[in-house]
Amino acid sequence: MASKRGDVSNELYLPNKIIQENAFVKTMDEYRKLYKRSVESPEIFWKEIADEFYWKTEKKGKFFSYNFDISKGPVYVEWMKGSSTNTCYNLLDRNVIEKGFGDRIAYYWEGNDPDDHATITYKELLRNVCKFANVLKGKGVKKEDCVAIYLPMIMEVVVAMLACSRIGAIHSVIFGGFSAQSLAQRILDAKCTVLITADGVWRGTKLLNLKETVDEAYKICKENGHHMKASIVVKHLGPPESKEDHLKKITQQAKRPVYDLKTPWNPDIDCWWHEEMNRANDICEPEWVDAENPLFILYTSGSTGKPKGVVHTTGGYLLYAATTFKYVFDYHPGDIYFCTADVGWITGHTYVVYGPLAQGATSVMFEGLPFHPHPGRYWEIIDKYRVTKFYTAPTAVRALMKYGDSHVTKYDRSSLKILGSVGEPINPEAWLWYHKIVGNEQCSIVDTFWQTETGGHVLTPLPGCTPTKPGSATFPFFGVVPALLNDEGKEIQGPGEGYLVFKKPWPGMMRTIYKSHERFETTYFEKFIGYYCTGDGARRDEDGYYWVTGRVDDMLNVSGHLLSTAQVESALIEHKAVSETAVVSHPHSVKGECLYAFIVLKEGYQFNSDVEKELRAKVRSKIGPFASPEFLHHTSGLPKTRSGKIMRRILRKIARNDRDLGDLSTLADPQVVDELYKTRPKNI
Ligand code: WTA
Repeated sequence: MASKRGDVSNELYLPNKIIQENAFVKTMDEYRKLYKRSVESPEIFWKEIADEFYWKTEKKGKFFSYNFDISKGPVYVEWMKGSSTNTCYNLLDRNVIEKGFGDRIAYYWEGNDPDDHATITYKELLRNVCKFANVLKGKGVKKEDCVAIYLPMIMEVVVAMLACSRIGAIHSVIFGGFSAQSLAQRILDAKCTVLITADGVWRGTKLLNLKETVDEAYKICKENGHHMKASIVVKHLGPPESKEDHLKKITQQAKRPVYDLKTPWNPDIDCWWHEEMNRANDICEPEWVDAENPLFILYTSGSTGKPKGVVHTTGGYLLYAATTFKYVFDYHPGDIYFCTADVGWITGHTYVVYGPLAQGATSVMFEGLPFHPHPGRYWEIIDKYRVTKFYTAPTAVRALMKYGDSHVTKYDRSSLKILGSVGEPINPEAWLWYHKIVGNEQCSIVDTFWQTETGGHVLTPLPGCTPTKPGSATFPFFGVVPALLNDEGKEIQGPGEGYLVFKKPWPGMMRTIYKSHERFETTYFEKFIGYYCTGDGARRDEDGYYWVTGRVDDMLNVSGHLLSTAQVESALIEHKAVSETAVVSHPHSVKGECLYAFIVLKEGYQFNSDVEKELRAKVRSKIGPFASPEFLHHTSGLPKTRSGKIMRRILRKIARNDRDLGDLSTLADPQVVDELYKTRPKNI
């Protein structure tokens, strides 16, 4: 620890000496040199990295090209267009055949139940992926078809994703916590006709019947004229004696709570994963695709309420996932890496699957929850596998902090070297607890700022060289050029606060919104011409450190899950009693933010606990349980401007019971505001 500089969040924490000595980047001078080269000569910088991977054909000439300036023509970003490769080949065949890592463990799988665990080597993963790629082909999946994946955190999810990549298909992973409606919306958007799911999964003591949700989603698809061709169902919970697939052999010690879900079955389209795999050939030549071919779509919330299918492509994403993983987690052979994110989110894509496998790393994949069966589960897993690099979200850190230090300190944790954070700003108190209690003051903390759209880390410390400040994502990663803009779109020089934007492309950034390039341009490139706009605000301090302050649009970040207020409002308004509604964010000690919904009822309806229950149920069924509003505030009206626009700025203040409302000159009916302060919900 170095100099104290007033407030806690400005204290500097230097990297641990041992971590520094072995790190890829040991000093800030080295970082600056590499950074300079990455932005001044990106083609040389990234070509050297590209040379570590396999390219079937390499096009000479322009390594990348782009246009960020919408006034000059369509926005586009291309890296290595014209060269061909295959992501799955680079992750598996390259490691198994070229590097001889076949017997290396790719994943230690840790189930919801602590007695349920398994391992899979690179060789086994490759064999399973080839087989499943053939299963997909058998179901008629072709290059550039989009395949839906609705699976829990089990190894089949990795197999399914990589099998898609092997045959040039595009995967669309949908988080297992999404409702049937959300799932259907995503299937329809990408016109997927094949879906991979499981019978069910235990989350703590709760059983999720995934297949039932899938069937409900199919009904909605059918109503919209879309017909599914196949669902491939993993028997994850069924009686073990009937489970004859490869996983049975490697889960010898499995004591998974057996439960026969009486899985709903439609013999026309449903089939069991293990039965298909038993029949499948284990040889499958990779499909060589252009570097700019889509690898996957991942939906993220949009401020209009309609989810956006963020498209990532093959070559650039591979380079970026591999490089950020290598430098930010300072990955060396022998490391055991554990990222707690679900594969349904971008962190799971880049830092559970693509980044670690591209580097031949060994990871822990965890199916369960941090509190099940006790709040020391993460630290128990860390000791069990001697985890060296750990990556989680501030919401988990804050939740675990509440249980007290003893649940952490009773575990050894001496293997840990790097602790990562992602998903939302980490408050200094949680940062310090992570550093002092979890890390024993021996670990480097990497607070990584990025987005589904950025594909990988864009602002982040490097663990061997960056002096960190609690709550700051510090400096840009290689190739990334951030700027802060004021309301007029002018760049702020030196210390200041503004809109966080990027001036140049990096290989892993999104290329478009699936089948909606115009929306891509208007969402990210219209507000400030010539810049990629993150939608986040940030501050730069006198030392040049970036502090991301949060969203500047109508988005909420609940436990690291982005939601749009519009999306939740449109679920609430479907209730027959609701005439008007507005949703704002409210601070929450564990979730970071939570939802606070204002509800105006139609004439003749009473607001009571039944209505409250029904409203919450609406949100759960339309979006998913994580979007359920914490507070419901019944009111007779909403504050509006004279032109009828809801004044959300005022609603945010009312939710926080903050009386400092500022300028109210545009408010049409000031009485509404008084009523709102008086009727705030009692449970706050
Ligand atoms: C927020 C998650 C502050 C931010 C990888 C961003 C963060 C949104 C951080 C993207 C961080 C993520 N500090 N804010 N370290 N990491 N965010 O698309 O608002 O699920 O725009 O990607 O999360 O969320 P997404």
